[in-house]
Amino acid sequence: PAEVDAAEAYYKELGCRTERRKDGFSKGIGDSVRVEDPLGFPYEFFYDVEHVERLTQRYDLYSAGELVRLDHFNQVTPDVPRGRKYLEDLGFRVSEDIKDSNGVTYAAWMHRKQTVHDTALTGGDGPRMHHVAFATHEKHNIIQICDKMGALRISDRIERGPGRHGVSNAFYLYILDPDGHRIEIYTQDYYTGDPDNPTVTWDVHDNQRRDWWGNAVVPSWYTEASLVLDLDGNPQPVIQRTDASEMAVTIGADGFSYTREPGEERGFKVGAQL
Ligand SMILES: [Fe+2]
Repeated sequence: PAEVDAAEAYYKELGCRTERRKDGFSKGIGDSVRVEDPLGFPYEFFYDVEHVERLTQRYDLYSAGELVRLDHFNQVTPDVPRGRKYLEDLGFRVSEDIKDSNGVTYAAWMHRKQTVHDTALTGGDGPRMHHVAFATHEKHNIIQICDKMGALRISDRIERGPGRHGVSNAFYLYILDPDGHRIEIYTQDYYTGDPDNPTVTWDVHDNQRRDWWGNAVVPSWYTEASLVLDLDGNPQPVIQRTDASEMAVTIGADGFSYTREPGEERGFKVGAQL
């Protein structure tokens, strides 16, 4: 419980707006503090929760496309290095990032649990929420969701995928909910719990960074995201990104993207053991 006090004091020290409710903001959650964080996103920290029945083994309730847990968020922010530093100060570690040779950082994946991320920062006009992601056990569950959306004649709600990410290695699908918010279905990333887990850095010009099979990313995926609210429930103003944007760098006939780096053959580094 003392960590809720620590969170409140920490954000006050950062000069952020905070609101504390000892009896909680939502049903089933006790003493909580809500903050507007330095990037403009609303966060809530709490300790005491009322637990409900776990559905882990309620296979009688499952369908073939069942979601099993919340996996991560993805946040759009104009200054990724600033956001990365803020999240590292909270105890997050960077598993992967996307950069260019000029030192511009386009995105970073940050984790507390031992997977690739709990949240990712995508460079763009922000603060906006890019997507929230739910996990399935296996990739065939994601294929079933695609088949079912086709059968329901809502295939226009599939925005991108299914596919395999380069970053994170996860099998993915992006769909739009009835309000237009982006939801990712995600599975099969990897363990990052070793204390010296190395950060994987991708070149922004590598065609396989966002889709391992080289499929192009649809422009809406770069441009569209959801507004976030302040503690009064009003939309936060959006600040423009001034660094180069990933879409401008990698979409269009700029001729700078590649599938194999010079010195690579069939995707393997020359001299690597096949
Ligand atoms: Fe994601």
